[in-house]
Amino acid sequence: MQTSAVKYAPYKLKIIDQTVLPYSLTYIQISSIEDCYQAIKKLKVRGAPLIGIVAAYSIVICASRLSKRCSLAEFIDQLDISLEYLKSSRPTAVNLAWALNRMRMVYTSLGGEKPKSIVLALNAEAEKIHREDYESCRQIGLNGLKILPDKANILTHCNAGSLATGGWGTALGVVYAAKEKNLDIHVYVDETRPLGQGARLTLWELMQSKVPCTLIADSMAASLMQEGKIDLVLFGADRITRNGDVANKIGSYALAVLAKAHKIPCYAAAPVSTFDFSLPSGDKIPIEQRDAQEILQFYKYDRNISKMIQVYNPAFDVTPGIFLTGIITELGILGQPLEKSITKLLT
Ligand code: MRU
Repeated sequence: MQTSAVKYAPYKLKIIDQTVLPYSLTYIQISSIEDCYQAIKKLKVRGAPLIGIVAAYSIVICASRLSKRCSLAEFIDQLDISLEYLKSSRPTAVNLAWALNRMRMVYTSLGGEKPKSIVLALNAEAEKIHREDYESCRQIGLNGLKILPDKANILTHCNAGSLATGGWGTALGVVYAAKEKNLDIHVYVDETRPLGQGARLTLWELMQSKVPCTLIADSMAASLMQEGKIDLVLFGADRITRNGDVANKIGSYALAVLAKAHKIPCYAAAPVSTFDFSLPSGDKIPIEQRDAQEILQFYKYDRNISKMIQVYNPAFDVTPGIFLTGIITELGILGQPLEKSITKLLT
């Protein structure tokens, strides 16, 4: 049983603070839009589908508070402002804007209703977004079993598990589906520099679920592939464009290139909510740049030296679709040529 990173009951929202995992399993309360913005920005909550879910719940909490003191016009204005503010917290994962747009659709379509009724409808929509994500991830897991080699040694990057989603996982959703069926699997977990989502979160999740796993430093992937230790590379996605380019945690692209060079299948796993059908290709995806301090752990004892170091810290990279074997979604597995498969999915 996976640990859920979000606990919600109307109108109370708690999340696991993922910055302190695996040392401490601490739930923190999100009571305002500002709490939510800061939690997303500081990666207390992270993972493309999960930030969408948490942002949607935060809008409900905000709406419930506003409904007690605002006119309808003020209520809608404040929701618009909050929604745009939350969207700006992290630019790359499209699920955030996707979930918030769904919330906006609810209150714009109910324009004439009283704020109290709109709050109920927003609550239902946020719970639906959460539930749908869980169900989509379960289906991604089952679909992924179709491409899982026997006795698979899987290499994964970052964290695309229950801590990144509504409670099951995308790339790790496949692993959990295999575990449920007692299949013989083993997962190599990339540390995922600079913030260690693999070392801290994926390893913790897999150990909790008793999935056999081994931690490696990111730089070891090529050598493991050369030694024949990897049968499959699986990672999540933050945004997928119409031609099949995939933005995901920095380092994913390197794995896809290595996998292709070693003729190892490499799949991204993501729900349809991660597709951005408005973008033709990955060069149009905004890539989040993060604080230099994230890479300066080795210099943390001397702030003066660390101030002199120039740092480049993009949080994501874009894997051109041609480097992937395919994309696992809840609607099925998209094969090459990805552009054609995605167009078919759209229609
Ligand atoms: O910066 P993060 O930790 O939010 O990055 C997360 C990832 O890159 C995940 O692989 C992605 O969001 C997919 S999660 C199902």
